[in-house]
Amino acid sequence: MKPSVYITRKLPEDVLVALREKYDVDMWEHEDIPVSSEVLKEKARTASALLSMLSDPINEELMESADSLKVVANLAVGFDNIDIKEATNRGIAVCNTPDVLTETTADLTFSLMLATARRIVEADQYVREGKWKSWSPLLLAGADIHHKTIGIVGMGSIGSAVARRAKGFNMDILYHNRSRKPEVEKELGATYKSFDDLIAQSDFIVCLAPLTPETKGMFQKEQFEKMKNSAIFINVGRGPIVNEQALYEALVSGDIAAAGLDVFEKEPIDETHPLLSLSNVVALPHIGSSSVETRKIMMKLCIDNIKAVLEGKAPKTLVNKDAFQNI
Ligand code: DGY
Repeated sequence: MKPSVYITRKLPEDVLVALREKYDVDMWEHEDIPVSSEVLKEKARTASALLSMLSDPINEELMESADSLKVVANLAVGFDNIDIKEATNRGIAVCNTPDVLTETTADLTFSLMLATARRIVEADQYVREGKWKSWSPLLLAGADIHHKTIGIVGMGSIGSAVARRAKGFNMDILYHNRSRKPEVEKELGATYKSFDDLIAQSDFIVCLAPLTPETKGMFQKEQFEKMKNSAIFINVGRGPIVNEQALYEALVSGDIAAAGLDVFEKEPIDETHPLLSLSNVVALPHIGSSSVETRKIMMKLCIDNIKAVLEGKAPKTLVNKDAFQNI
């Protein structure tokens, strides 16, 4: 019997050819409805591999009954939806998709900065709603991006790619990270700052940090109060890093000027969420890495990782490396 692979969202058939040749592939039939936890648990019970989405909780309860499970390949660089400790204890390899999405996610981050500062979404709506009656000197006037100060929280590969774009806009680059990044300091002239200094001195505060116990709730009322009143806050990291109620209050009270958000505490965000009532918020449905080219490369990487583990070889991008010294 061939080992079985369960894919938790409908993916294009052309990327699955290599997988279908060797394995018994089963796939959730919807593109935009997530698999329920009951179905996922049932499928995981007999699967050797899971190709999962960042919205699928791969937790202890699921792994408990997944006796044949050898690998979880998550279609994202982030893996906060997976209980890594539990997977490692059970000898399940967890793989993600770093690097291949770096430039695409940096493009999206910069798009959010531009859209928020230059009020692109508001302006588009203004034209479509027939409100444009005359040219006027301060019509939908926004803020400049060039020659401003960007503060990047989380200087991993995506942070560095955003910093390279910022350099092209003649921005001063500040960053805060768990560890110093001498190569980024040298190449881009980025300056390391404490978190408090960064949030106080930046015009654009760009959060690209992963969700960990240390980053959870990092942005509270106090942090927004320390920012400039003209500051623009961008989050392409993970929603729970930010207290959304505090962000909403900061935007309403004028503690900060605007926010561009690709991620939310609870996804999908409810359309009645207070943040969505504000015109100085640009909200996106977690599409950081979503270009057709990149998403297909990410799918291929997941498939390569699954094949590698099932063939007893080292996968290209293993998260829980320590537990798998010998593959
Ligand atoms: C990921 O892949 O984890 C990011 O959220 C990019 O969209």
